[in-house]
Amino acid sequence: MGLDTGDSAEYTRALTDALGPVVRRSLDLPPAVPTFLSDDHTPVEFSLSFSPGTSPTLRFLFEPSSGFGTLAESSRLGLRALHGLARRWGISTEQLDLVQDLFLPDAPQGDFALWAALELAPGGTPRMKAYLNPAASGPDRAGATVREALRRLGHHRAYDSLPAADRLLFLALDLGDWDTPRLKVYTAHHRLRASAVGTLNRMDGGPAPAETEAFLHTATGLPPGRDGVFDRRPVLTCHSFTDQAADRPSGFTLHVPVRDYARDDREVLGRAETLLPRYGIAPEPLRAALEALTPRRLEDGVGLIAYLAMVHQQGKDPRLTAYLSSEAYRVRRPNERPTGPRPVR
Ligand code: TRP
Repeated sequence: MGLDTGDSAEYTRALTDALGPVVRRSLDLPPAVPTFLSDDHTPVEFSLSFSPGTSPTLRFLFEPSSGFGTLAESSRLGLRALHGLARRWGISTEQLDLVQDLFLPDAPQGDFALWAALELAPGGTPRMKAYLNPAASGPDRAGATVREALRRLGHHRAYDSLPAADRLLFLALDLGDWDTPRLKVYTAHHRLRASAVGTLNRMDGGPAPAETEAFLHTATGLPPGRDGVFDRRPVLTCHSFTDQAADRPSGFTLHVPVRDYARDDREVLGRAETLLPRYGIAPEPLRAALEALTPRRLEDGVGLIAYLAMVHQQGKDPRLTAYLSSEAYRVRRPNERPTGPRPVR
């Protein structure tokens, strides 16, 4: 992905330091914690971000200081590990400090406390992201928690611009040297109808409904003109805020959990190979990345590609992202057909 050996070594060291002792835990033992960061509970997930005309960017999402004690303990240690990474590269955590009490209280609730991601830029200094749990101060307070966080970070009317959703999944903060740091809210849409996906965008100048529908149809193998209900893993959207003066998002992402709507990874790769060129992107690096991750045949499992996503951000070319599992613990068996959304008339 265009990283020289020095950068690769530095990033590898940073990741293994931040993960903590779990990196020395035998993979013959069960996962240290049942994290839902990945399906097989590996506390790391890779992703590739593809923009037209440049080589893809590699990122990792991980649970810092994974596998320790109670949620309260793991949140404290995770925060310490994240601060360690920030110091290593002179990254400011100011945005996180402003909302820390909301998401990392003494007794956090919910199914995770803190995840981090690194975008591996050439040159040895990554861009960092922190993922926070809206349910940390109580699942029934998730809406109020996110609203307050957006307000503290200067986006006073942002909350009201979000589409109706069943669940607020993450609040993510860009930390460090980003052109335009974003604040992102991830929402889950259980039992979404394919024909309704075009209504979820809230950014100005975002994708037309037909484009969003076409992405969803191709990613899930739903023929054009057919409708269906996504009643297995929910489709997610992400709304990014960059301009405090605007009362709406400047970015929109559709995350499609392809692993629940395909038989196997061969099928998912085929769909990605249809989608990428539609956006002017060469698909070869994706194939090469899958080969680097696993020697297994793609038709022998599903979930190596967890999500395919379409990302729109004002002022930038649309890009696509693929989230890739390490399968450190387990390969998921292929799904039984039919794998499409539940048909509706
Ligand atoms: N594994 C979780 C899920 O599938 C969380 C997650 C990991 C996720 N990577 C993601 C969610 C990328 C959205 C996009 O929901």
